[in-house]
Amino acid sequence: MSTSRRRESIHTVALAPGDATAAGKRISRGELVVFPTETVYGLGASAVDPEAIRRVFAAKDRPADNPLISHFATPTEVRDLLPPGSDDLDDLIATWMPGPLTLVVPAPVWAPPGLSGGLDSIALRVPADPIAQAIIAGAGVPVAAPSANRSGRPSPTTFEMAWAEMKGRVAAIIDGGACTIGIESTVVDVRTPSEFSVLRPGQVTAEEISRLTGRTEVTRASDRPRSPGTRYRHYHPGIPVFVVSKDRFAEKRQVLSQQYHDLAVPEFSDLQGYAAGLYYALWDATRNDADAVLLIDISREDAPGLYDRIHRAADEVL
Ligand code: TXA
Ligand code: MG
Repeated sequence: MSTSRRRESIHTVALAPGDATAAGKRISRGELVVFPTETVYGLGASAVDPEAIRRVFAAKDRPADNPLISHFATPTEVRDLLPPGSDDLDDLIATWMPGPLTLVVPAPVWAPPGLSGGLDSIALRVPADPIAQAIIAGAGVPVAAPSANRSGRPSPTTFEMAWAEMKGRVAAIIDGGACTIGIESTVVDVRTPSEFSVLRPGQVTAEEISRLTGRTEVTRASDRPRSPGTRYRHYHPGIPVFVVSKDRFAEKRQVLSQQYHDLAVPEFSDLQGYAAGLYYALWDATRNDADAVLLIDISREDAPGLYDRIHRAADEVL
């Protein structure tokens, strides 16, 4: 038996979608509740409760300098937190809030320092998933929610994954089935007038943001440290992950099959199915004791968010 200090396990209950409003009340009382959004499952806590925020970091084994996204029920609450001169964001917000879009703005006074990892900014999202909506409305406070994985591992996109990751670490997990999008929201810094910078790509692309806002995309050298989460290793299932382009796929598959007895080769019908199923496929491969995973590459232009996740998960691009 291990002699190292072990986390105290807490009793976790599985809840149905109909329990979402009551689960929101649990959040307002300081408890941690995992819930589905259309992107990935989130690990929710009251964003105005410093002790609950501290427990989110502990439940995920997350580095303290990686800030959390605050989730709101309505776009109006987000508009109220925008810096002056942000009227050009109206169409973007009308189109993608609710949706898979997160805006980084100056931190409001109510934000506990732990929420923003010591930065002077805060990230805001309005999820579209009805269960997420009911939770946030039930909580009556902004809900801080990172993806509900232990740090560095694939984000949960099904209840089964969320349960395996967070059982014993949170008060409740809501079973909302599979997430439709499957990769996390696009994170965009909109603090500088007339400009924006994408800190984490997702389904909402830079082209779309330019078109809807008239703003220019800038990528500053400092953008990486400004989105601390992008510094860390991500989405790793614990076995080697290889990526290979379509034209060399058959050849590399054969070579790897000789090296790895049980090579998992997930198949997806299209890009949308790939994004929705990628994290589950990585997780499922380890669960089935595969020795390695082989993923097919895509072009960055076709789906920048998915491309980013495939390449972050990869140990090697062949
Ligand atoms: O789709 C999503 O965004 C999911 C669902 C649950 O909403 N949430 C999510 O949270 O992916 P998380 O914590 O796994 O990733 C948040 C990302 C991290 O890369 C973090 O560094 C960045 O957003 N972030 C949060 N606040 C920030 C801030 N103030 N400035 C820059 N980056 C920030
Ligand atoms: Mg995450």
